[in-house]
Amino acid sequence: MGKEIGIDFGTTNTVVSYFNKKGKLRQLKYKGDEIIPSAIYFYSKNEYVIGSLAKRLIIFDNQKQAGVLNFKPKIGEKEKIVVTAENGDTFSIRPREVARLFLNEIVHGIEEKLIKEFGPIEGCIDKTVITVPAKFNSTDKAAIKKAAKDAGFKTAKLVAEPTAAAVACQEDMGLDEGDIQDKAILVYDFGGGTFDVSIIRKEGNKFQEIATNGDKNLGGNTLTDRLAEELLNRINDEYGMELPFSEDEFDESYYTMPLIHYRQNMLAIWQAADVIKEELSESAEARKVCNIWLDDGTSAMYEAEFSRNELERYISRDVQRTIDITIRTIEEAREMGVENISPIVLAGGSSNIPFVKKSLEDKLVKDEIIYGDDVSTLISRGATILAECDLADELHDGKTNVQTGIAVTSGVQYGKFQAIIPENEPLPCSKTRRFKLMHDGQQRLEIHLYECDVKNFPKAVRIDDNGITLIDTLIIDDLPAGLQKDNTVIDVEITIQKDDTLAAVATVKDGTGNTIQSGSVSVKKESDLE
Ligand SMILES: Nc1ncnc2c1ncn2[C@@H]1O[C@H](COP(=O)(O)OP(=O)(O)OP(=O)(O)O)[C@@H](O)[C@H]1O
Ligand SMILES: [Mg+2]
Repeated sequence: MGKEIGIDFGTTNTVVSYFNKKGKLRQLKYKGDEIIPSAIYFYSKNEYVIGSLAKRLIIFDNQKQAGVLNFKPKIGEKEKIVVTAENGDTFSIRPREVARLFLNEIVHGIEEKLIKEFGPIEGCIDKTVITVPAKFNSTDKAAIKKAAKDAGFKTAKLVAEPTAAAVACQEDMGLDEGDIQDKAILVYDFGGGTFDVSIIRKEGNKFQEIATNGDKNLGGNTLTDRLAEELLNRINDEYGMELPFSEDEFDESYYTMPLIHYRQNMLAIWQAADVIKEELSESAEARKVCNIWLDDGTSAMYEAEFSRNELERYISRDVQRTIDITIRTIEEAREMGVENISPIVLAGGSSNIPFVKKSLEDKLVKDEIIYGDDVSTLISRGATILAECDLADELHDGKTNVQTGIAVTSGVQYGKFQAIIPENEPLPCSKTRRFKLMHDGQQRLEIHLYECDVKNFPKAVRIDDNGITLIDTLIIDDLPAGLQKDNTVIDVEITIQKDDTLAAVATVKDGTGNTIQSGSVSVKKESDLE
């Protein structure tokens, strides 16, 4: 007994939905907000707040170092974020841990509300569906599952964000099976951190993902970056400065400006660009004044001004990329015999940009494009429907979307990607790869695993090419002592599980293929280590 909830854990905003006592799909408020900013702010190492208060403290009180924004796209990365809390505590924290703290607050906040409405037994959270970008890799998915479990969600299933949006849309439009016979819906979801596109079809009472693509590093933040970079150029020209766009290139020994002033400038510039970007969806021109520190320690009020035409010029390549991915996804569906794709549903905050809609209309069929009702809650509502019907497991198209493999580590092919598990392989699937020792007595082996997005980057060959990403490192560090390099092999079995997460086991064999150590040797994933 318990309640089912759906969570759209977004890069910019998080929304939680549930069926209320009257059976209506509604949002659960956290501290009065239906749309909860995905932000966390630390007063000290152990004391923090999330949501709109956190966002306000970070942005408006200019406390960038004490808070974290946009942590979702980094969730699978091991690189820690350095935080200097309001009280001066400095610590580093993995993005996955930030997500756990954030979700932990959400669990407490909403369960309290549910218990008030449904009582202590029925009001406990039972099934949870959390949505993830279509292009989250296996490490990202495993990280989100772990963060959710550690935060107190007993069972959390993952569903692709556009799929959840399509599910909600079908409900909103009241389509029944007759209406959607042989029809598929396309969801174009251009959010804050990611772009996703998915074609889904309802078969019986199941929702089937036909094709899903996207870019997990392309969202409204990318568009704001484009405008912010141009704004920084103008400010540099105006005041004769050479401030770099990336903090990595800000060398304090070279610049007379202290780092803190540089950071405040960049935050002011980014915020101005973000506000201007959103205003340009409504008007042809937009202005914003920002307070800029100059090289000589004084400050100036700079009035940033952009026209809609200028914005369109700076973002056109990014928008074109979303269209290219959409067209490729439609082609993929057609190859699978799905011809009738209608309607095209727009979701995500960045779909509010008129240029996005216009570009889609120009390149795709005009009258098929609709803007979903209540776009901001669409995905979490779809997730709740899936949680309630317990349908999340049924959705996955059950195949690998990318290739998983390793890099060649020696010879002329050094750095070339080598697939172990191909794309379109039914899940779960396992493949075994043989590795040799580098020297006698070796007890530790590290294997870097990469994903190659062959569908979207068919020319990707080397591990530093676009489309190939390091997803994890397998660590085998308890090999038996005294192994000889020339007559030992390690067979590593890599499995992509049904939920798209990755597992591995290893067996140590001698030159004749006999197992040296009974049972498998444990393989740790670097992403699992604290
Ligand atoms: N009217 C608007 N015009 C332009 N951009 C907008 C508008 N409204 C919102 N946005 C942009 O939409 C983005 C947030 O969208 P959304 O809430 O869908 O993202 P999210 O779900 O948090 O992110 P993701 O799905 O990528 O994890 C921000 O970049 C914001 O600037
Ligand atoms: Mg989103």
